Amino acid sequence: MEGKGGTHSAIAIDGPAASGKSTVARMLAERLGLIMVNSGAMYRAVTWEVVRRGIDPSDRGAVAAMLDDVEIACGIDGMHSTVTVDGRDPGAELRSDDVNRAVSQVAAVPEVREVLVAKQRAMLAEGDLIMEGRDIASVVFPETPYKLYIDASEEVRRRRRAAEGQSDEVGHRDRLDSARKTSPLKVADGAVVIDTSDMDIAEVVEAAVAELRQRGWFEREGAEPAI
Ligand code: CDP
Repeated sequence: MEGKGGTHSAIAIDGPAASGKSTVARMLAERLGLIMVNSGAMYRAVTWEVVRRGIDPSDRGAVAAMLDDVEIACGIDGMHSTVTVDGRDPGAELRSDDVNRAVSQVAAVPEVREVLVAKQRAMLAEGDLIMEGRDIASVVFPETPYKLYIDASEEVRRRRRAAEGQSDEVGHRDRLDSARKTSPLKVADGAVVIDTSDMDIAEVVEAAVAELRQRGWFEREGAEPAI
């Protein structure tokens, strides 16, 4: 099962923290009638359990060992991805300060990535989808031609996150996400970079749709007629 060539197609959206990729992904998914998958929520869910159990997030061995003792279930509710941990929904705690602080360390553990990437690929069986994250175009669906990298300056991103009322060291997370050995955040081969620093959300969505059109999204095999 790949980003293209199987029965369903995937649009991959990557970018640093608070770049606006989630908002763009959500709006694009609504406009194009696609399932929206937030891969960050899966890394956050594992991190939520690490924090809940009092495991040191920098202890890679302990984090990896926890995976044998927990059921991370990813599903679809309507047109959105869901994630539960041993049947529990972490809800708003996915974005708690504790999770924000620890998630990049947990996401750097290769065993965590291996488990979650397999679940992410499996979601393509559910239908055409948009998946947003850090390594979607480079690792999860490298074969898809529909790759967008949503960027913005660090200053703009810090302001956006603060406006959401969150304490989140976006620059610090980005450095950890970009420097890690396994699947670092980077612009994947074939991805187009959209810098949103001076754009409003409607402009970003238009730019994304134009890029997808150019890449043949609306003429792909199995495409619904464009609305
Ligand atoms: O809050 P924001 O939208 O910036 O991030 P997120 O998408 O919720 O992801 C939270 C963290 O999960 C990131 O900082 C990465 O450490 C990790 N992540 C990852 O490593 N790979 C992904 N595909 C998605 C998220």
